[in-house]
Amino acid sequence: LKGVKTLKNKHEETPFYTKLLSYAKSNVTSHDVPGHKLGKIENEMLEYAGINMFKLDANAPRGLDNLSKPETVIKKSAELMADAFGADKAYFLTGGTTAGIIASIMSVCGANEKIIMPRNVHKSAINALILSGAIPIFINPKIDVELGIANHISKEKYIDAIDNNMDAKAIFIINPTYFGVTTQIDEIINYAHEKNKIVICDEAHGSHFRFSRKLPKSAMSANADITSCSLHKTLGSLTQSSIILIKGKRIDPIRLRSTINMLQSTSPSSLLLASLDVCRKEAYFNANKKITNVINMKKDAINIINKIAGIKAIEKEHFIANGAFDYDETKLIIKVSELGITGFKAYAELFDNYNIQMELAETNIILAVLSIATTWEDLEKLIFGLKKLSEKYYGINKPLKSRIFNLNPISKIRSRVAYHAPFKYVKFKDAKNQIASEMIMIYPPGIPIVIPGELITDEIIKNLRIYRRFGSIVLSDKSGEYIKIIDMDKWERKDEINEI
Ligand SMILES: Cc1ncc(COP(=O)(O)O)c(C=O)c1O
Repeated sequence: LKGVKTLKNKHEETPFYTKLLSYAKSNVTSHDVPGHKLGKIENEMLEYAGINMFKLDANAPRGLDNLSKPETVIKKSAELMADAFGADKAYFLTGGTTAGIIASIMSVCGANEKIIMPRNVHKSAINALILSGAIPIFINPKIDVELGIANHISKEKYIDAIDNNMDAKAIFIINPTYFGVTTQIDEIINYAHEKNKIVICDEAHGSHFRFSRKLPKSAMSANADITSCSLHKTLGSLTQSSIILIKGKRIDPIRLRSTINMLQSTSPSSLLLASLDVCRKEAYFNANKKITNVINMKKDAINIINKIAGIKAIEKEHFIANGAFDYDETKLIIKVSELGITGFKAYAELFDNYNIQMELAETNIILAVLSIATTWEDLEKLIFGLKKLSEKYYGINKPLKSRIFNLNPISKIRSRVAYHAPFKYVKFKDAKNQIASEMIMIYPPGIPIVIPGELITDEIIKNLRIYRRFGSIVLSDKSGEYIKIIDMDKWERKDEINEI
């Protein structure tokens, strides 16, 4: 474990899970919610999952703690979490890092306060702008031409943005990007702090960083003020369970707590909370060794994959040569475009024909997210699937040309103003030069192609069509080739466009 271990002797404990377990075994008479009464309901899911899952799904206003105002076992578990991550304080989330990012931005930035952020942020950060009214200063990410993906932001771009926006309240750093790339987080944070900016991080894909020196630096180790980590993505807690961590004096813990409480259910899942508790214990004692193991397995897999005709596993050196500072070696990016098929096709065929679920696809690549639970057998299955794809396609089609989608967004008005303006739906063909009033993205990765307030260009429409044709899941308000735009005829503020 990187850093000081102040509660070293306590990490064997799982205060919330232990209490929940004894509650589940106590044969309590439940006249509280949930209505399944700890598994006394007839339910086909119960047949598969077993009664114990239902027994652990307890509310227990008396007996367990309250997530909105933790005072006993949740408080103790959160203290251990903070300690394991080198933070001053930890907050448990049952709404994923999505809730964490929105709460972080809303508790730091008020309406009209500026926040410097990459344009390839997750949709939750854009939603936070709509909710808070903060003004984004977007910086465009580095485009990886060979892989056809948007990646990190260089230190120089952050420094420029800070120098040109001295009045900005905060900066936002993705650590790492969906594809595993990080930037010079240390130096950027030091510079931002020198200039009196608050640093908010998105570590949806970085919760495991803290537990191995073979991985990039974690936000807390680099003294970020606040970060959100999806333990469910890379450390093995249940889906939706995440944490917010804070360090130092720049974040007001009371405002943060009340903002988190605005966004979360008043009936948080005890299963999710317990899974965070046991996940922290496991990570504290075993993640280091297991991360080394998965990185070694990945290296062995890459040696085999790179002998398959038309397939290339991308290694750390590629990203460093493209200006990245560091790279998360538990990500496995595989380029398939030399086979003459898109990543989308490979993604679909691996699932449809070989029962292999990849994390995501882009035009040229597919991505596997490996974790401490990945086995060699899982990697062998992937290698088998890739061999089959190579046998089917190599040498038959011409390799695909790299297709670069330059975001180059043209922001006309703030997302919040666009969101509240009168709107209408138009067909793609009529949307050119209109202002978007919705966010559209493919999922995964959930990074918006267009956000409310941006101009809809030919390039955007072309890309949406391509994604639809490739069968990607395009998330937008209305199905079909429709975009929600501001209805200029009904909008009273249209003359102010350049000011808002
Ligand atoms: C970069 C990034 N940030 C934030 C999130 C949201 O995390 P969660 O799924 O825990 O809500 C995601 C989810 O995919 C993501 O990719």
